[in-house]
Amino acid sequence: MSFDNFTYKGATFCVSVHSEEILKKVEDEFQVLDDDIFNITYPKSGTHWMSEILNLIKQNGDPTFVNSIPMWSRSPWYETIAGYDEAEKLTSPRIISSHIPYHIFSKSFFKSKAKVVYTMRNPKDVIVSMFYFSKILKIFKEPESFEAQLENFFKSNGMYGSWFDHVKGWMQMAGKDNFFYITYEELQQDLRGSVVRICKFLGKELNDEEINSVVKYSSFKVMKENKMSNLTQIPDDVLDKSKGTLMRKGVSGDWKNHFTVAQSEKFDKDYQENMKDLNIKFFWQE
Ligand code: A3P
Repeated sequence: MSFDNFTYKGATFCVSVHSEEILKKVEDEFQVLDDDIFNITYPKSGTHWMSEILNLIKQNGDPTFVNSIPMWSRSPWYETIAGYDEAEKLTSPRIISSHIPYHIFSKSFFKSKAKVVYTMRNPKDVIVSMFYFSKILKIFKEPESFEAQLENFFKSNGMYGSWFDHVKGWMQMAGKDNFFYITYEELQQDLRGSVVRICKFLGKELNDEEINSVVKYSSFKVMKENKMSNLTQIPDDVLDKSKGTLMRKGVSGDWKNHFTVAQSEKFDKDYQENMKDLNIKFFWQE
């Protein structure tokens, strides 16, 4: 695995996982189908969680599929070298995962009726989650310190570019019928209610028992044990399981255990400055 990065249209990608050729194909050639569902996030915002929820909804709450097919095969990240062809071949309705910034998204989407579910997370918790994931995923350079991780966040040179650009880019779709946004914190606070809202957006009618099953099998406890979802099947030279796991804590507010008061205050100031043009208040700001 290599740490080497490259820049494509202002966002950072990793040579071990991405290529310019695939990113161009994603943008210009990928044929989005009307019944496609895109699970889009900035990394560490709940991508795997939402993928599990969407796949369970697709299966009417039946866990057989998520218990037998690995996460990256049922809903591949289509902007990756390994995921592009797999995504094309998925059975409809395809559930496709992606961290792609809005300005690189597939052009054919905009002529389709396909839907996007965009999940965001308190950026302070994104930073903490990324800090630990960088220690185990071999394509990330392990940050020297938490302070260094924090600084990187504002330098916009992290994987997939700046969190602010990602969120502001995708939130241009807010209000459109085929765009649904939700936060990790909302999922945490009311998973069942969130599943009901997601079903409504997707036009999927599940009965109470089926909804309960989606909630049960997408819970942190169950997903942590599901080998098809917890990434433990990935070889150690890619993901060093001796140092940690994808399913780390699964809570909101862990940032309070990592940020100093000064770091938090500076972050809040920079956040306000970067987000001043976006008139949408997120749940984590309450
Ligand atoms: P932590 O590192 O804070 O524990 P992503 O899937 O975008 O890489 O995000 C990973 C984060 O989502 C991790 O956060 C992980 O624990 C959390 N996560 C994954 N599945 C979850 C679930 N079912 N419930 C709550 N958190 C979950």
